[in-house]
Amino acid sequence: MSTESVYKASSLSRSLLGRGALRRDVEAGNTGNWSSTLIPCCCLWLLKHVNVKKCVIAIILLSFLLMIVYINLVPSSTFASFMPRDTRPMPMVHCRLGESSGGASPPDVPAPDHRSEARLRIDPKVLVFVESAYTKLCRDIAELLVHNRIKYKVEVSGKSLPVLTNLDKGRYGVIVFENLSKYLTMDKWNRELLDKYCREYSVGIVGFVSPTEDTLVGAQLKGFPLFIHTNLRLKDATLNPASPVLRLTRPGETAWGSLPGDDWTIFQANSSTYEPVEWASRYIPDYPEGNRNKTLLATVIQDHGRLDSIQRVIFGSGLRFWLHRLLFLDALSYLSHGQLSLSLDRMILVDIDDIFVGERGTRLRTDDVQALLSTQSRIRHYVPGFKFNLGFSGKYFHHGIDEENKGDDMILENVDKFMWFSHMWNHQQPHLYDNLTQLELDMNLNREFAMVLPRQTCGLFTHTMLIDRYPGGRDKLDESIQGGELFQTIVYNSINIFMTHMSNYGNDRLALYTFESVLKFLRCWTNIRLSSSPPVQLAEKYFKLHPEEMDPVWGNPCDDVRHQRIWSRNKSCSALPHFLVIGPQKTGTTALYSFLSLHPALASNIPSPTTFEEIQFFNANNYYKGLDWYMNFFPPIQGNTSRYTFEKSATYFDGELVPKRAHALLPNAKLVTILISPAKRAYSWYQHIKYHGDIVANNYSFHEVITANDTAPKPLRDLRNRCLNPGKYSHHLDRWLMEFAPNQLHIIDGSALRSDPAEVMNALQRFLKITPCIDYSKMLKYDPKKGFFCQLVNGDHTKCLGKSKGRNYPAMEEKSSKFLQRYYMSHNTALVKLLKKFGNRTIPHWLKDDLSTPS
Ligand code: A3P
Repeated sequence: MSTESVYKASSLSRSLLGRGALRRDVEAGNTGNWSSTLIPCCCLWLLKHVNVKKCVIAIILLSFLLMIVYINLVPSSTFASFMPRDTRPMPMVHCRLGESSGGASPPDVPAPDHRSEARLRIDPKVLVFVESAYTKLCRDIAELLVHNRIKYKVEVSGKSLPVLTNLDKGRYGVIVFENLSKYLTMDKWNRELLDKYCREYSVGIVGFVSPTEDTLVGAQLKGFPLFIHTNLRLKDATLNPASPVLRLTRPGETAWGSLPGDDWTIFQANSSTYEPVEWASRYIPDYPEGNRNKTLLATVIQDHGRLDSIQRVIFGSGLRFWLHRLLFLDALSYLSHGQLSLSLDRMILVDIDDIFVGERGTRLRTDDVQALLSTQSRIRHYVPGFKFNLGFSGKYFHHGIDEENKGDDMILENVDKFMWFSHMWNHQQPHLYDNLTQLELDMNLNREFAMVLPRQTCGLFTHTMLIDRYPGGRDKLDESIQGGELFQTIVYNSINIFMTHMSNYGNDRLALYTFESVLKFLRCWTNIRLSSSPPVQLAEKYFKLHPEEMDPVWGNPCDDVRHQRIWSRNKSCSALPHFLVIGPQKTGTTALYSFLSLHPALASNIPSPTTFEEIQFFNANNYYKGLDWYMNFFPPIQGNTSRYTFEKSATYFDGELVPKRAHALLPNAKLVTILISPAKRAYSWYQHIKYHGDIVANNYSFHEVITANDTAPKPLRDLRNRCLNPGKYSHHLDRWLMEFAPNQLHIIDGSALRSDPAEVMNALQRFLKITPCIDYSKMLKYDPKKGFFCQLVNGDHTKCLGKSKGRNYPAMEEKSSKFLQRYYMSHNTALVKLLKKFGNRTIPHWLKDDLSTPS
């Protein structure tokens, strides 16, 4: 008996016992015993107890039963093909615009370019006035701006205006009021200032009318010939094709049905300065359709600025309605004269992972492959160059039922119609291989299989098989397509790579439905130009558009269990430091490091062969050596009771990218910095590099270095910058505090570290919350010869830092000291403010001295 027939026969037997038992047996591979015992027994019993006619009827009935059970339990059977596959949804976006050409033609009229002839003096940045940073609309606006990489600044309305200009340039290209009434009721002085700015720099205003508790009927907007009705329920939104605001958004369609919310505002105007951008109709539930008032009500209105020379776009509702998100982007583009316009080009690639992989019954049959091919050719009409990108594992070729194996063959017959990329031969994930030779072997297997198949890289992830089981139901999927998340993803991103799986293309073919529908919807409602390219070209384009993203950012694999799961078993997140001593250089960081190393509960990194004890991971090229390289500095020490690990790299403090990188990997780490007089720090640093033979430092005096102007030779200017920049403490601390919370940062007064290190170390232990808290006064002693505190050893002896720490050099010249006092004045003032803001009650003496009036 073939395996298949054994399987079928045993299925029948188990139908008497229930599905659970059947599944358990099939899974346990117990099919053989049942077939060899129960079926012959049944037949013998039938022959013995009933006549032949009854026996035949019984066999027919039994066969029928077998068929039903088999169809229900084993969808992969050949019988399953008799089942109606009618749940499969068909793309159903009806688009009036493209109907004649199947939605395929490119937009008939080119999208307007909002660029203006005027000589603009504005930065492409948005100023957003909000009632509070926590309102839904504020979050929606911020999210939309972030998604579209539009720079913005949020200001809470009601306070004084932020600085609007920078020399002769306007800092903002558009002003947004989350609540328009805050603009209308602004105090006279600020309002005049803001309006003046808008007129002088040709800057427009976007305003949202906030829902009101009381329903207003025909209320006038303060100071404007514009009247509003509030708290309405509306339906059927449509756009004004004549509106010059529309660019990304394509007019001509109607978003049928009720609009989200029951607090819409509509506008009525009696001045030609106003022109509707969007209309809708009243929604009156349970009111006969024929009797409904079909009057179009303006829900978004444009003020051409004919009355006061300021252009505005006013929304009668927030950004809940998907169309308003597009209109908001168009308003920013229009009001900034194209400075904030998004490109209309979008590129799309759809990966289909796991080709040939997959359970019997979930794989592609010939009709699925046919559907894949015909959908692809339809999509190519509006996405030139579109080809599905297939990721395969050769080992599973022909592992389905007959129908599916034919599907596999058909895919290969059409190999050139798709793009391809390779998974591992047996679909194993490469990082799970412990044995490199085996990994290479398996990779080669797949390569041999793929000799004829060009391979590319892969992208994102999605998976679902049946519409009925779609999480949240079919409405949820349709919502995502028709203006929702999937639609918006494509609108906001110039390059989109979607990851799907083979199983999404069999069964209900949800992926075909989803992509064809969303592309049609985009075609209906936007002027976006879609195209596609192979992955490598897409990658090149992406990094050309976003060069800043070429740099890797190492995150903590343990922050996400999914990442942790795919991480090698011999790695652990405990191999990352708990705190960082970030510098800056020459403030006493080595002394602090040596004191910390005396603590029994602390362990620093193992020394770096290239940078002495410092790893310098986050600031230099070492970052590109990767996470493993960094973690190797923190090996688990056998029998070590240390619970806290740390590293000290004094160059971290002023490294431009360091705070961001450090936060990405160590978001909960504590930071320790030491500050001394920036002037003294600069002088100590100069002495340090001079001692190390720096040619420029040896050719120029300290005064010449610090006073070098911008016409000085480059090496001198570079040295000046390296000498002076770290001392701009407030600037650097601001950057750190953009990433880390203030309570993660501990500032040590470097002069106190020098004069009373025990007290400094006690405070530091409290901040780090390390136990046991040891008494440093018993471990450190002042060494008069060295002039510094040193480690106490063997009773009364001291072990001090080497000659390079606490050097002897002449005192700084007075002219340099005065120059630096002036140079750092504004930075030191800002530092005092920052320290006060973060609750530091005592201002270091050196800071007070540096801020005293220069003589
Ligand atoms: P100088 O050598 O210019 O005096 P860093 O370790 O960050 O490079 O800082 C070196 C500075 O630490 C020295 O600068 C010295 O003034 C200061 N320092 C503070 N406490 C010290 C200590 N206990 N021993 C030696 N130097 C100390």
